[in-house]
Amino acid sequence: MKTMLVALSLCLSMCVCLAVAAAADGKELYAKCQGCHGADGAKTPMGVGKPLKGMSEADAAKALAGYKTATYGGEKKAIMESQAKGLSDEDMKALAKYISTL
Ligand code: HEC
Repeated sequence: MKTMLVALSLCLSMCVCLAVAAAADGKELYAKCQGCHGADGAKTPMGVGKPLKGMSEADAAKALAGYKTATYGGEKKAIMESQAKGLSDEDMKALAKYISTL
């Protein structure tokens, strides 16, 4: 029983660490988005679209996935398509999570 508890707490602390790592990753990845979107996501990128601030994780994930597959966006979507092209699914997940905290 004791061993099981130790194993369980080890497992739990690992999960917490993984979650923290993912959040940190999103912030790191967002560094290259700041120029257009602003550090706090409040900037209207290049005068078009909506600021990222206030966007939900689900909406941000949908938008990024859509840009990657060229199925989402407005008049300046080519810019975001080239941004999203280099992102992995993991990257987009971490970014969407981070954007929802802005
Ligand atoms: C060179 C400037 C530029 C950079 C760098 C950039 N973006 Fe964008 N972003 C834009 C523009 C312009 C739009 C609006 C595009 C359109 O017309 O669909 C946009 C739109 C978006 C949207 C959709 C917003 C909405 O309301 O639907 C998301 C999400 C987004 N960007 C995330 C990111 C992320 C994450 C990064 C970094 C990996 C990033 N952007 C980097 C210019 C940029």
